[in-house]
Amino acid sequence: MDLTPSARLCSSPGSNMTNVGTSKRIIIAGGSGFLGVSLAHHLAEQGTAVTILSRNPPKPSGPWDFVAWDARTLDDWSAVLEGADAVVNLVGRTVDCIKTPDHQDEILRSRVEATHVLGEAMRTIGSPPPVWVQMSTAHIYGDPPTTICTEDSPLGRGLAPFVGKAWESEFAASILPNQRGVVLRTSFVVGRDRGAGGGALSRLRFLARIGLGGKVGSGKQGMSWIHERDMNRIFERAICDSAMQGVYIASSPNPLSQREFMRKLRTSLRMPFGLPATETMVRIGAHWLLGTDPELALYGRYVMPKRLIEEGFGFEYPDLSDALLVN
Ligand SMILES: NC(=O)c1ccc[n+]([C@@H]2O[C@H](COP(=O)([O-])OP(=O)(O)OC[C@H]3O[C@@H](n4cnc5c(N)ncnc54)[C@H](OP(=O)(O)O)[C@@H]3O)[C@@H](O)[C@H]2O)c1
Repeated sequence: MDLTPSARLCSSPGSNMTNVGTSKRIIIAGGSGFLGVSLAHHLAEQGTAVTILSRNPPKPSGPWDFVAWDARTLDDWSAVLEGADAVVNLVGRTVDCIKTPDHQDEILRSRVEATHVLGEAMRTIGSPPPVWVQMSTAHIYGDPPTTICTEDSPLGRGLAPFVGKAWESEFAASILPNQRGVVLRTSFVVGRDRGAGGGALSRLRFLARIGLGGKVGSGKQGMSWIHERDMNRIFERAICDSAMQGVYIASSPNPLSQREFMRKLRTSLRMPFGLPATETMVRIGAHWLLGTDPELALYGRYVMPKRLIEEGFGFEYPDLSDALLVN
């Protein structure tokens, strides 16, 4: 089984190698949602052939092929991996929900089982992709109130760190010995809705527009974020740069407090005020009005992409005000 990164994958010379170029074929597992469709457009714009592997086809149409799977069972779909240049695994049930036992179970299983079956599929084919880029979460560090977390920081406790650790452990067990693997512990992605969802920004914008975009609780909890363009450039670099391996934080170098994040969001919307919400108000409102987990707003974290900075990655949108303007 030859897993040398093919010359087709990374055509541009130089240390960054950030142009995936033409005649590449990349599989995005869990690519039918917000980040997958954004990445698919980004890669396709450069002439890359993209296949989205998910249970349902993406809602918008676009420049990709679609292959169906159940994200759990080995089947004919595994043939799509044969000879591909890279696989990017984004599969995961949304965490933007009330954390019932059923939802918690699905949040965990969707991630771990999809990662496992991808690894199984790679073992059944003759020419698996030489690169596996794996989604993970910056929430793996938990919710430390003030600490700035880097790749070297201890991992946290609670549901999200538990899921993140299980997800990454399954990836470590599933990747082929001679495959290059990159794990991206990703923060809140600020991006545009292309018909497949717009992530958390859509909801925050709605709240800010109706005057509810103020401080939540103390307002000091960290909001680490990254613009989708930088996220896609990190995916691209992870695919192309043979020096990139292991765990990276994918987040802008400027995490903000929740209060400051919402202030900038209100400014971008020309909304002159944002009513503050106490913890009790958020606990009631998030659960009963928005049907989601209040702790997503009440807690947060500050993360710093130490490895990306050390390895010379240049963020196009390091500042939130600029990032919000292009969405
Ligand atoms: N958006 C962010 O800000 C952000 C930040 C950090 C990490 N992430 C992670 O990045 C990944 C993609 O995020 P996203 O915003 O694009 O999410 P999304 O829009 O909800 O898309 C999730 C993808 O996972 C698949 N999926 C969902 N539930 C599933 C289940 N129970 N079993 C199998 N597949 C399932 C979906 O496809 P089908 O339902 O068609 O199979 C879809 O392709 C997720 O793992 C998410 O946790 C996202």
